[in-house]
Amino acid sequence: MERTLVLIKPDGVRRNIIGEVISRIERKGLKIVALDLRTLDAETAKTHYEEHAARPFFESLVEFITGGPLVAMVVEGERAVEAFRALAGATDPVQAAPGTIRGDFALEVQQNIVHGSDSTYSADREIKLFFPDLA
Ligand code: CMP
Repeated sequence: MERTLVLIKPDGVRRNIIGEVISRIERKGLKIVALDLRTLDAETAKTHYEEHAARPFFESLVEFITGGPLVAMVVEGERAVEAFRALAGATDPVQAAPGTIRGDFALEVQQNIVHGSDSTYSADREIKLFFPDLA
């Protein structure tokens, strides 16, 4: 069974749509196998987003993602990486289709409500970073 790391980012927590996002994950048939509300430190945020380190928006992204509590989850199911990315919609919420999480709840590319691992390789790395004790 495949696993993916999902974050409900600080903008999603601030807007009180944790339940909405979790409900969509569960309705799809995916299973939440770990869940934690926490505020990231800068080091963890930089490690999580290391592939974007050279991007002009990196510093701002780290500031945003550490700026309040987020919900980190491990989500499991058939093709979980791809399944969650389909639920999330395109990174740019204006391009994201209505009916997707980003398409329904966001307008800005940085404050796009959720993160989902982009591959099974990234999922392994990100799950180890957020939930090192998970079997
Ligand atoms: P996420 O799927 O978590 O992966 C990287 C994040 O960087 C992305 O969602 C956005 O929050 C953010 N991001 C991507 N592109 C931009 C951009 N052009 N400007 C600001 N933030 C961005």
